[in-house]
Amino acid sequence: MVFLWSILVLVLLVVGLAVLLTVAESVLVNYGICVIDVNAGEKSLEVEGGQSLLSGLIESKIFIPSACGGQGTCGFCKIKVLGGGGPILPTETPYISRGERRDGVRLACQVKIREDINVKIPEDLLNVKLFNATVKSTTPMTSNIKEIRFSLIEPAEIFSRPGQYVQIQAPSPDGPVFRAYSISSAVYETDEVELVVRLIPGGIGSTYLHNLEVGDPVEFTGPYGEFIFDEDPETELICVGGGAGMAPMKNIIKSMYREQPDRTCWLFFGCRAKEDVFYLEMYEELAKQHPNFHVIYGLSEPQPEDDWEGETGFIHLSLDKLIEADGGKRQAFLCGPPPMIDAVTRVLQAKGLADEDIFYDEF
Ligand SMILES: Cc1cc2nc3c(=O)[nH]c(=O)nc-3n(C[C@H](O)[C@H](O)[C@H](O)COP(=O)(O)OP(=O)(O)OC[C@H]3O[C@@H](n4cnc5c(N)ncnc54)[C@H](O)[C@@H]3O)c2cc1C
Ligand code: FES
Repeated sequence: MVFLWSILVLVLLVVGLAVLLTVAESVLVNYGICVIDVNAGEKSLEVEGGQSLLSGLIESKIFIPSACGGQGTCGFCKIKVLGGGGPILPTETPYISRGERRDGVRLACQVKIREDINVKIPEDLLNVKLFNATVKSTTPMTSNIKEIRFSLIEPAEIFSRPGQYVQIQAPSPDGPVFRAYSISSAVYETDEVELVVRLIPGGIGSTYLHNLEVGDPVEFTGPYGEFIFDEDPETELICVGGGAGMAPMKNIIKSMYREQPDRTCWLFFGCRAKEDVFYLEMYEELAKQHPNFHVIYGLSEPQPEDDWEGETGFIHLSLDKLIEADGGKRQAFLCGPPPMIDAVTRVLQAKGLADEDIFYDEF
């Protein structure tokens, strides 16, 4: 018993000391103005010391992905810190591989600016902008999925690649939070951004988006995302999705067929029952114009009233049945819940696709 009490007192002392040090640091230590050097002199940013590197960069209009809003729980805000970042913290290590650690990769939200700091940021991220927009339309697709379309105000146009996403700023009692949503509009629709959002009960970002009304103002940053679409018209494209995972597929397929009308593409989309099916008619119409476009929707739990004549069972089984083994050059893009991604990846590997040709977004 005495032993347990001693441990408790020790833990309380350590926690108390840590809190005291943090408070003392924020009140007493003034780091003054520090300089963030970006890409060896490409930009030199003067920011208030004491804040996180992520905040310092955002203040300077450099928008690093930050799906958890700087909590250190998403691992999205990785950048290379080449000098002045201090030692790597225990909060960062779960997200940084050994190789990345050797290269100086850090979580920008966890690095505190205490002195001048040198960072390396990919050119793509330096082009990310803050957009002001208004809601143009909101359309329910299923009982919990909405399509939401924004008209861009400033900047008036967005230039993105197929499969990229934006980060919406949603209000919350603890201040704004940021959530990632794939762009579902095609890349040529440069004056608008469309999202397909699944409502997560109690979720801050999805509830905010589902409650928006036409005319409401919104702010987001983007475009983000490293998916590189294979432009070679001979490469067969295999898209596999479920639920809100439809968003990037719609963007990729519509953008691609505008430029390459004869390209072979498969869309496999998994739903539970017919009430979860959406965009099917739109894709069937597209398939009439592009004979090499194959649309397969599958229901895992078809209901008697569904009167469904299409595929049934999990979507990876339909993929296994319909995609040939050892076909030509192929690229796959998967988007949906983790179990679906795992099952589909195993099928694609067995069909001869190399890991570097299989891309996925899990959500
Ligand atoms: C690159 C990327 C692209 C994305 N694109 C889309 C998109 O196009 N459409 C879309 O709807 N979402 C998309 N997401 C997911 C989206 O960013 C949010 O994570 C999601 O909307 C939940 O946020 P929230 O603020 O509503 O919930 P939170 O407030 O973050 O979470 C509320 C509660 O719900 C739980 N929760 C969070 N996410 C899920 C989930 N998926 N399923 C079940 N429980 C959950 C949390 O653990 C928590 O307990 C994407 C995510 C990433 C990383
Ligand atoms: S913003 Fe999520 S880990 Fe840094």
